[in-house]
Amino acid sequence: MKQPLAELMRMSRICRMVLATCLGSFVLVIFYFQSMFQPVMRRDPFVADGCCRKGSGNALQELYNPSQPEWSGAAVLHEARREQVAEACRLHSAASRKRRVLTPADLKHLVVDEEHELIYCYVPKVACTNWKRVMMVLTGRGKYSDPMEIPSNEAHVPSNLKTLNQYSIAEINHRLKTYFKFLFVREPFERLVSAYRNKFTLKYNASFHKRFGTRIVRRYRKNATREALAGGDDVAFREFVEYLVDPGTRRSDGPPNEHWQTASQLCHPCHIRYDLVGKYESLEDDANYVLRLIGVGGALRFPSYAKSTRTTDAMAAQFFSNISGQRQAELYRLYELDFVMFNYTTPSYLKLE
Ligand SMILES: *[C@@H]1O[C@H](CO)[C@@H](O)[C@H](O)[C@H]1NC(C)=O
Ligand SMILES: *[C@@H]1O[C@H](CO)[C@@H](O)[C@H](O)[C@H]1NC(C)=O
Ligand SMILES: *[C@@H]1O[C@H](CO)[C@@H](O)[C@H](O)[C@H]1NC(C)=O
Ligand SMILES: *[C@@H]1O[C@H](CO)[C@@H](O)[C@H](O)[C@H]1NC(C)=O
Repeated sequence: MKQPLAELMRMSRICRMVLATCLGSFVLVIFYFQSMFQPVMRRDPFVADGCCRKGSGNALQELYNPSQPEWSGAAVLHEARREQVAEACRLHSAASRKRRVLTPADLKHLVVDEEHELIYCYVPKVACTNWKRVMMVLTGRGKYSDPMEIPSNEAHVPSNLKTLNQYSIAEINHRLKTYFKFLFVREPFERLVSAYRNKFTLKYNASFHKRFGTRIVRRYRKNATREALAGGDDVAFREFVEYLVDPGTRRSDGPPNEHWQTASQLCHPCHIRYDLVGKYESLEDDANYVLRLIGVGGALRFPSYAKSTRTTDAMAAQFFSNISGQRQAELYRLYELDFVMFNYTTPSYLKLE
């Protein structure tokens, strides 16, 4: 009799814990309350089944309260990262008057895997192609086994993955409450320089040059040549920075392009409580930890990276060396929340006054 009872107690404790995290991560997504409370508010002893079945339950348990001692180090690390995000959000919301409620349109970057009850918020320039490939393997019902067999352009076809904004409000709230939610972030200025190099110094995407490059040259280059105005394909980093910090940019062009939008604006970590914050700087460890948590670590490894063209901190320092202290300070202010929230130190190469 003892054994099953202990087991039952343990399960109940786990379920209560998972339930607590479910409730904790509750996010208000516009005015529709009735159905979204039902999954967790019923006083039914079996209600926790909804939390502890194959999907996200085990992953959340192993993350928040690992049963295996060798996982406790990672659990502590990720708890500290979550705490850092929460603290930054508290300070940020205390400092700003604006109160904002999410709408489905804010959830376009949250990729959903229903089978593993997983939500991945993608941030461009943070291994997002490989993560989308992995999400396609996870949601593909056996169609793929190796992420690298999926061509990179295929990984970016929107219809190949389902995003959270495609669900009803009740379905969105249910998923936000019960799924395992994670994102991957990167040192903000390294990411920004990477976006600049990828979008403005490579020849391959003329449409990006046309759309942003011509605009930037027109606005920030004196005496631009006719070719430069027409092609927009030789934007200097200094001009790109002018474009980013110019208050007129947002007024005329709307929200920033996703490649240089901050992670906090793409993924809303102050509204959505992510269970795990992965970092580009420890990409393989963090990514494979996620795959082990959701129980696919044996069959699936995160693709390792070809590092040759990677943008590094030293490279970022070089690009910033040409930028005035005033512009650096303005740019830093735009990305400050990402720096603080994700625990990146202010780069030593900056000349902030
Ligand atoms: C923040 O980074 C420092 C090192 O830069 C590290 O010692 C500390 O543990 C980190 N804190 C969190 C919450 O990740
Ligand atoms: C080029 O950039 C545009 C955005 O300006 C994007 O829609 C398109 O998919 C990109 N093409 C390639 C091949 O990356
Ligand atoms: C632009 O061209 C005019 C005429 O050639 C010249 O006088 C002026 O100094 C140039 N301005 C810059 C910033 O190069
Ligand atoms: C810095 O600016 C100079 C001239 O203004 C230019 O020749 C050089 O290529 C720039 N360096 C970088 C890394 O942008």
